[in-house]
This record gives sequence, C-alpha cells and structure tokens, in this order.
Amino acid sequence: MLTERHDFHGAATEIFSYAWAMPKLVLAYSGGLDTTTAIKWLNVEQGYDVIALNIDVGKSREQPVVESRAIAAGALKVRVIDAKEDFLRYFAFPALAAGAIYQDAYPLATALARPLLAKLLVDVAHEEGADAVAHGCTGKGNDQVRFDVGIQTLDAKLKIVAPTRENAMPRDFQIDYLKKHGIDIPWGDKGPFSIDENLWGRSCEAGVLEDPWAEPPPEAYEWTRSPEDAPSTPAYIEIGYQHGMPITLDGQEISPLAIVTHLNDLGGLHGVGRIDHIEDRLVGIKSREIYESPAAVILHAAHRALEGMSLSKQQIKLKKYVAQEYAELIYNGLWFSAHHQDIAAYVASTQRHVSGTIRLRLQRGSATVVGRKADESLYDRGLATYDSGDTYDQTAAIGFINIWGLQTRTQARQQLLTPGADTLRIAMPKEDLT
Ligand code: ARG
Repeated sequence: MLTERHDFHGAATEIFSYAWAMPKLVLAYSGGLDTTTAIKWLNVEQGYDVIALNIDVGKSREQPVVESRAIAAGALKVRVIDAKEDFLRYFAFPALAAGAIYQDAYPLATALARPLLAKLLVDVAHEEGADAVAHGCTGKGNDQVRFDVGIQTLDAKLKIVAPTRENAMPRDFQIDYLKKHGIDIPWGDKGPFSIDENLWGRSCEAGVLEDPWAEPPPEAYEWTRSPEDAPSTPAYIEIGYQHGMPITLDGQEISPLAIVTHLNDLGGLHGVGRIDHIEDRLVGIKSREIYESPAAVILHAAHRALEGMSLSKQQIKLKKYVAQEYAELIYNGLWFSAHHQDIAAYVASTQRHVSGTIRLRLQRGSATVVGRKADESLYDRGLATYDSGDTYDQTAAIGFINIWGLQTRTQARQQLLTPGADTLRIAMPKEDLT
C-alpha cells in the first residue's frame, strides 16, 4: 500500500499522503467482536476502506452501540438498514405459506435472513461504488454458502472477502488485536454458546450442546420459559390467514412485524417453540442446534391446520413434498434461483383458497390447534355428521368398496392365499414367513 498510517492516542488514526483512495468494501456488520475485528483487519491488513453495514432483521444490538464500535474500529462509514418488515414479508412469510421446515424441525430463521443480507450487501456495494463485500462467517457452516452464493448470483463481479474463514482468529487474539490498535471495548463474557437471532427465531449452538447426550442447560434458552415455569392457565389466540398469510390476530388486522413480535412474546411466556435438533449441514457436518421460534412454530401449526380444511388430500400430499424441497433450497443457499421461482409459483397457487381463522391454545410448552374456520372449506359437516342431517349416501359405499378392493381380491386369490400362507404375519419379511 502506498498509504502511510500513524497510530497515536488510542483509537485515533491519522492518514497522510493519500494520492488515491483505497478500494472500498462493504462488510455485513453485527457490532460483535468478530465483525468489529474484521473492520480493523480488512482496513489494516488488507487495505480496504470499510463501510460497515448493519442490517436489523430483529433482535439486533442497540444502534448507537453498533455505530460507535464500527467507527472506533476505523470504518469509513456506518450504514444501518431496518429490514424487519421486508424480512417477514418477502422471506419468512413465503416460507410459512410453503410449510418450509428443514428436516421436520427447523423453521429456518437464520437461513431465511441470509439471502436478504446478501441482497442488501450487493445493493449497498453498488450505491457506494465498492469493489468488494465481506461477511464474518467461518468455513464450517451453512451461512458462508448462503452469503457467497447469494452475492455471486446477484453480482458475479463483486469480490467476496471472509476474514474469519481465511484466518482463524480466536477470541483472545481478536481482543488483543483490537487493543493493539487502540480499541478497548468491554466485550463482556461471550457466553458459552454461538447465537444468531432474528424475528423468525433464535439459533444457539456450540459449548456443552456439542454433546448430543447432554440436556440443554437453562442458559441455552433466552426467548422461552421452560414449560414447568410457564403459567398453568392457557392463553387462547385466533389467527386469521388470507391466501396463506397471517393478517389478523384475535379478529384485529395486524402487521407482520406486530403479529410475529407478539407471538414470540406470548409463545415464549408459555414455553412454546423450543426445538432440539441434530441437523445436517450442507458441508456434511452433523451439528446440534437449539432453536427458539415461538412465532414460527405457532404460525406453522395454525397454517397447517387451515390447509387441512382448505386443500384436497392430493394437494396436501404433493405440497408436503414440495415443502421439503423448498426448505432444502432455503437451507442450502439457493434462494436466488429459477428453481425457487418455480416452486414459489406452485406454492402461491396452492394458497389461493387458504383463508380462514385458526384458534390455538398455548399452554406449558405446546401450541395446540383447538378450532378452525375456513372461508372456502372442504369440510362439510353434513357429510361428516353421525347425527341427523346426514347428506352422505351410505348405500353408495358398497359399490365403491367393491371396485376399490377389486385388484386386492384378485391378488389375494392368485398370490397371497397359497397353501400354508400365514396371514397373521403378512407384515414380516418373506424369509421369516413359515
Ligand atoms: N444451523 C442453523 C443454520 O444453518 C443456524 C446457524 C446459526 N448460527 C449460530 N451461530 N447458531 O441455519
């Protein structure tokens, strides 16, 4: 570098003889130790002018703290974007409508936020005329993949720098490195876990959780009460959906941000939304993760119940399969893909009659659907009832069963009912049959 830097008086850095500017880089900045170290590192060791981009997808640190840390670490400027509504509207809610839950457990909170962060990094890089973007991910997780693939897809020319992946920097080293550069911030105790949070959920891993036999200690949870400490009196809520999107709570219209915030609080109070999962990362590692996702768990349960009223059994069956594919493409970082667009079009089509209201009881760790009402319901009480008012023709069942069982009867005659066949043990493997 042709620039010269003289450090003095702690954090102050004077720059002399700038003939031309350093290349600009936009860093996804959380305000934590890793990304604060990254600002200094990218500036001093790699010669970038760093623009720190702090994106609020819920549960972020206090803005003034974030800004002052970034400036102290030598950021050229700090940009803050409130992306909470966009995150829910364009990422979390479409995943909700799809029923996307990774490996039947994880509502994908962290995974859903990454493509939005990637998009905003690219947008800000363009606005600022930056040549590069950076993130603080390690080389072991899924998040690096989601960031990199997202960024590469949106602008293949942007350089991607990942200081934590490129240089292993233990916590002590980071603190010393910042001190050496005059940045002495009380980082506090990191706590025993690695945490990521946004409105759709909290992800917690590492520490004692790495032992899959160990029950998560109480400190692993922050958003939810333990079911035994939750109130014994249940809370009842009614969620109204229109075309698969939640739009009312207890009969009142409500914004995505307000309903998700409310359900996280209320669900958390009742101990709803704790998930303990051994998960398959894209990079081949199995990892143990504790999630807290009260709002996501409640909204998914209610949405599934509404689909039970509104969709045919064939639609439910195919959609379940599509939901898995959707969850995997989100998890594996393929948000910005034509495959996603195709699947999203199918999901949107399935939701055109998914409107109605679901009533749930929240109590001691569970969110139980106790009532459903759908605008264009396929549930017909006249057909279902065992009481008077039955509209179903029971005599028609005889002919139906005659045809339905036709091939099975033929098969039994020809193949099953051979001499000595054991019809008690039909579920056992052949070798085991006498
Ligand atoms: N395993 C989850 C995922 O890949 C969450 C990772 C979040 N990071 C964390 N530090 N817990 O989406």
